[in-house]
Amino acid sequence: MSDSRLEFLRREIARHNEAYYEHDAPEIPDGDYDALARELRELEAQVDPSDAVSQRVGSPPSTTFDPVVHAEPLLSLDNVFDEGELASWAERTLKVVALDPADCLFSVEPKIDGLALSILYEGGELRRAATRGDGRVGEDVTANVRTIPTVPATIPTRSRLEIRGEVYMAKSDFRSLNESQSLAGLKTFANPRNAAAGSLRQKDPTVSASRPLSFLAYQVVVLDDGVRVASQSQALEYLRHWGFSVAVEATTVRGTAAVIAASDWLLDHRHDLVYDIDGAVIKVDDLDLRNRLGHTSRAPRGAIARKFPPEERLTTLLAIEVSIGRTGRATPYAVLEPVVVAGSTVAMATLHNEDQVRAKDVRPGDRVVVRKAGDVIPEVVGPVLSPELDRGAPWIFPSLCPECGSPLERLDGESDTYCRNPRCPAQLLEGIVHFASRGALDIEGLGEIRVAQLIAAGLVHDVADLFTLRESDLLTLEGFAELSARNLVEAIDRAKGAPLSRFLVGWGIRHVGPVAARALAARFSTYDELSRASLEDLEATEGVGPIIAQSVYEYCRDPETRARRTALIEAGVELREPHELSSEPKTLEGRAVVVTGSLEGWSRDEAEAAIVERGGTSPGTVSKKTYCVVVGDAPGASKVTKARTLGVPLVPGRAFQDLLDSGVMSEVLDEE
Ligand code: IVH
Repeated sequence: MSDSRLEFLRREIARHNEAYYEHDAPEIPDGDYDALARELRELEAQVDPSDAVSQRVGSPPSTTFDPVVHAEPLLSLDNVFDEGELASWAERTLKVVALDPADCLFSVEPKIDGLALSILYEGGELRRAATRGDGRVGEDVTANVRTIPTVPATIPTRSRLEIRGEVYMAKSDFRSLNESQSLAGLKTFANPRNAAAGSLRQKDPTVSASRPLSFLAYQVVVLDDGVRVASQSQALEYLRHWGFSVAVEATTVRGTAAVIAASDWLLDHRHDLVYDIDGAVIKVDDLDLRNRLGHTSRAPRGAIARKFPPEERLTTLLAIEVSIGRTGRATPYAVLEPVVVAGSTVAMATLHNEDQVRAKDVRPGDRVVVRKAGDVIPEVVGPVLSPELDRGAPWIFPSLCPECGSPLERLDGESDTYCRNPRCPAQLLEGIVHFASRGALDIEGLGEIRVAQLIAAGLVHDVADLFTLRESDLLTLEGFAELSARNLVEAIDRAKGAPLSRFLVGWGIRHVGPVAARALAARFSTYDELSRASLEDLEATEGVGPIIAQSVYEYCRDPETRARRTALIEAGVELREPHELSSEPKTLEGRAVVVTGSLEGWSRDEAEAAIVERGGTSPGTVSKKTYCVVVGDAPGASKVTKARTLGVPLVPGRAFQDLLDSGVMSEVLDEE
C-alpha cells in the first residue's frame, strides 16, 4: 500500500463523485467506481480514518436549486458483492444483538438505479421535495417533483412525514425519450439513470413535466407521533395505501438462505423488470431492531446492498469507424466481433466522440469488454490489456469526412466533430431516411437502402424530389418490380396530404420533436401561417418554450428553407394540419383545454380529438397558459390542485358539450 495510491484514489473518487452527482455525467461504469471505492475504503481503514473520503455520501448540492436540510440525513448503503459476503454481513451484524440470522425477518427489494428523493408531507399535502445532495443538505426540486405523475400531491394521513424513494425512468420510457430526442435533433441520454437525473434537475419544471419520470417509494420517516411504523414491510403497506408506487418485487423473508434466494431471483430476472436495477437491497425488517443496530457516518448497519455484476462480455474490436448524421455530426463507433450481451447480439457500439475514444484508449485489434448501459445501449467499457500483448497504434480521428472527403471540423471547447459540407451525401441520406421514418412522414417501403439507391442514381437531391418520382424512374433501379414501384409511388403520394406536424418533425428542425410539432401545427394550421409568425407568437404557443420558438423562427427565415418549401409546395404537398380540413366550427381556436377524469359519453381520445377539431389543443399538463380544465369523474388530484393554484377555471364534465359548441364555459366549479 502506498500513500500515492491513496491520494490517487481520493482524487479519482472526488472527481467521479462530482461527475456523477453534479453533472449527471459519469465517466466510468458503476462497477468500476465500486471497485475504486472499495479499494479506497480498505486503504483508509489501514490509515487515519478521521477524514476518509469514502465516508462521505454523494456530493455537495449545486447552486441551481435552493438548499434543503434533510430532517434526518439520507444515508447511503454499504455494498456486498456475493452470497458469501451477504451471509457474513448478516452474521456479523446480528451478533451484536445476539440474534441468529436464521430467525430474523428481512425485506429484500430491488435496488433501483435512479436518484434518491425525499418528499416532505404535512397535513396530508406535499410540501417540499429534495434530492440527496451530500446526505445532509439536498436540493429543492419541489416544482419539478410536482410534475411526476406517480408522486401524489396529497395523501390520506395528516402525520408529518418524509417519504423517501427513487426517481427513475422506466426502460421503455427511456427508449421512447431517446427516440424523440433524436427526432428533435437533440442529444440522447446514455442510460435511464442519466436521463432521470438530467430530467429531474431542470431549471424549468415544464421540461421535467415533459419527461417520463417515475417515483418508487421505499421508506417512511415519521417526524411526529402520528402514525407508527413498526417494520419495513408495514412501511411498504402504508406507502401502497397512501397511493405511492412500491416495488412489486419486494418480499419479506426469514433467514439468510431465503435472503440469498430472493436476491438471486432478482439477479436472474433483472432484465425482465421495468426499471434498471444494479442490485438488491436487504433490510432488517423490524425497525426497532434496525434502530438499535445504528449506523456509521455513511450507512445504516441494519441494511446492505448486494450489488450485481454488470453483464459483460469479451470480444474483439475489429475497427473504429465514423458515421455522419443528418446534422453532419461525425460519430465514431466500434465494429465488434458479434457477441451476445444481456439477451441480444451486439456487433456495433457507439464511442460517442473523439474524447471518449481517447479516454477509453481502445484500439483496433484490442480485446474489449462490452456491456449494455442501462440494460439497453451497447457500450465498450475498455480494453483488456496484458504486458505481453503487442497493441496497434492509438486510433486517430480522421481529418476528412469518410463520405464526401471534405475536412472534418471540431470547434474549440466542443467535444463533437462535424462535416460542414451541406451537400455531403451522408447528411442527405440520413436526412431523407429521417423524413420517411415512422416518427415523421411514415412512408412505407422507403428505408435506408432505397434512399441510398435513389441518391446514387441522381434521382433525389432533396426531400421535394421524392414527390416527383415516377414508377418508370424506379423501374430503372435494381430490386424494383412493377408492384413495388407502384406501391412506393402511392405511399409517397399519400404523404402529400400528411399533417403539417409530421413535416415539422421530418425536416429535422433542431429541438422540434413530435410533441412540439403537434403544438405548433395546432396553433398555426398551415406552414404559411407558421412561417410568418413572430417570435412572440411562437413563444406564446402552449407547449412551446423560448428555445423551440427561437429554433423554429430561425429555421423558417433561412433562405435555403424557403427555397425547399417552395419546391415541396410545387410538388403538390399541402402542409396543413387536418383540423383545418374538419368541418367543425373553430370554437376553441388556439386554446389549451386539459381533460381530467372520465367524461360520460366520451373516451379520452374522443374528447381530445373533439377539442383539436375545434382548433384547440389538449395537453396532458396544466400550466398558466391553459384555458380551462374539464373535470370528469375520478379526476387527477394533481391537475385539479394545479389549476386551482394557477387560477385556471375548472369546468364540470356536464358543460363539456357547451364548451365545444360555443367555446364558452357555461359552468365553472367554485373554489373549494
Ligand atoms: S434504502 C439508509 N432501498 O441506493 C438506506 N435504497 O446505494 C436508504 N436505492 O441511497 C436506502 N433502491 O438511492 C433503499 N429499495 C431501495 C433502494 C435504494 C435504490 C438507492 C438509494 C440509496 C442507494 C444506496
